[in-house]
Amino acid sequence: MTTTDTTTKTAPVGETVLDARGVTMRFGGLTAVNDVNLTVSRGEIVGLIGPNGAGKTTFFNCLTGLYIPTEGEVRFKDKVLPPQSFKVTAAGIARTFQNIRLFANMTVLENVLVGRHTRTKEGFWSAILRGPGFHKAEAASRERAMELLEFVGLAKKADHLARNLPYGEQRKLEIARALASEPDLLLLDEPTAGMNPQETRVTEELVFAIRDQGIAILVIEHDMRFIFNLCDRVAVLVQGEKLLEGDSATVQGDERVIAAYLGEPFEGAPGAEEVAEVEAAETQAETTTDAAPGKENDR
Ligand SMILES: Nc1ncnc2c1ncn2[C@@H]1O[C@H](COP(=O)(O)OP(=O)(O)OP(=O)(O)O)[C@@H](O)[C@H]1O
Ligand SMILES: [Mg+2]
Repeated sequence: MTTTDTTTKTAPVGETVLDARGVTMRFGGLTAVNDVNLTVSRGEIVGLIGPNGAGKTTFFNCLTGLYIPTEGEVRFKDKVLPPQSFKVTAAGIARTFQNIRLFANMTVLENVLVGRHTRTKEGFWSAILRGPGFHKAEAASRERAMELLEFVGLAKKADHLARNLPYGEQRKLEIARALASEPDLLLLDEPTAGMNPQETRVTEELVFAIRDQGIAILVIEHDMRFIFNLCDRVAVLVQGEKLLEGDSATVQGDERVIAAYLGEPFEGAPGAEEVAEVEAAETQAETTTDAAPGKENDR
């Protein structure tokens, strides 16, 4: 990547682009996200952390039109979010996925071109007739896509099939594809999952470089070092509720966060009572039978 030397740790914070108010998402009897407020401004990198199943991805899905929140409102650049994913992308929100979603049998370049389609003005007839307007637009799209591949460090692999890229590079390609829609807000769901420490460092610099272009960033990650290095602000979700929000130093040192990660709910934490009841029941079961305690499902 060529941008490493020019990135900075902080940038001037601009206007609020994302304003989520009281977002609640229920699935039947399960409240996956409960009354969450969160803002992200231009020039900011905001982190969203929390244990497995805390509701982080569900919250992202509520910000991208994949889910319509059961309650609450999401405003993007002062307008209520449209209820369909493609309209959300067109409005200027792009995302990457926790489980990589690339077109495996398309080339690296083609994957980025797919990401550009919301930004190409050439319509149906132009594409059918393939006149000069179409060819000009196509050339401009390719040029921009190559620029983005250069930016994430994948230009040399433009002609490779996406499925042949190593895992870490597939994650970078997802970022390039998301950037191809020219977003104002980029949502990253576990961008360094499966990466080695060196790849993680490069991704950190990449995220700073994206922020330096004026794009607001909201990032989910389990790698705490990555999060606390990167983020201006961090929000902690536990059992669907925002436990706290603050700068990296504040959140890092908060004993409730440490407890949430170590799986020891503090008194008054969301769900603490239920966990205590389950633990009490398990202890009782262990003393009355030989059954081994079930292994926690680690997705
Ligand atoms: N479509 C759905 N239908 C029913 N339940 C769902 C659905 N999507 C998520 N859930 C549930 O909502 C809760 C939150 O899940 P979510 O995937 O948002 O967690 P997460 O914080 O992203 O976890 P992880 O760190 O493991 O990715 C979980 O209990 C999950 O099983
Ligand atoms: Mg998730």
